[in-house]
Amino acid sequence: MTTAAPSDPGTITWELIPENDVDPRLHRELNALLRESFPYTTEEFRDGRSWAGARPERRLIGRSGGRPVAHTGLLRRFLRVDDQDQLVGEVGLVAVHPRLQGTGVGREMADRTRRALAGLRLPFGYLNCHSSVLGYYLATGWTALPGTDTRHYEPGDELTALVTTAQPMVLPVSAELTAWPKGSRIERDGIEL
Ligand SMILES: CC(C)(COP(=O)(O)OP(=O)(O)OC[C@H]1O[C@@H](n2cnc3c(N)ncnc32)[C@H](O)[C@@H]1OP(=O)(O)O)[C@@H](O)C(=O)NCCC(=O)NCCS
Repeated sequence: MTTAAPSDPGTITWELIPENDVDPRLHRELNALLRESFPYTTEEFRDGRSWAGARPERRLIGRSGGRPVAHTGLLRRFLRVDDQDQLVGEVGLVAVHPRLQGTGVGREMADRTRRALAGLRLPFGYLNCHSSVLGYYLATGWTALPGTDTRHYEPGDELTALVTTAQPMVLPVSAELTAWPKGSRIERDGIEL
């Protein structure tokens, strides 16, 4: 199933949807968008799923022609940074339809993500990313946490917590970056979004 997507990013309308309000049709549409946007890991979105690990509690969705063409998932959770609990809005399932990538949709989605996190009164956004998209997050206000490991459960192995090689990133929302707790180990105590 392919997602129809025009090449004009100006036609996109945005909404923030709670997870319980995502109906089966929207899950199918998001599954199609995520499979097209993550062509090398489509197996993560098996059985029509619109998630890969943990499920989000809010979804920021950009639509064009009625179909989702951009998507970000949000999940409130506490991380442990060394021994300190830190509330964050985890960000994941970040995707722009391939035909719209490179046109500024990702930047607009990042701005809207920050506003959505602020609306949830969260101090920070948090995510782990691969080096291939590090530049996108750095360009949209995120800061890398060098020398910091994140340990969590991978969706395929939920019995052993592993240190991920993906780069931890933090986004100051209502707090200043200087308020992020110092520590070399972040414990997610759960599955990545
Ligand atoms: C990553 C993604 C969401 C970016 O969306 P986009 O619409 O292409 O981004 P934009 O065109 O708005 O670009 C915003 C800025 O990020 C930069 N950028 C975007 N993708 C980048 C990348 N892969 N590497 C480095 N910089 C990147 C752009 O150059 C731009 O910076 P500038 O305004 O200073 O020139 C999109 O490419 C995508 O869906 N990729 C596939 C799925 C994926 O990997 N998601 C991330 C999972 S962690």
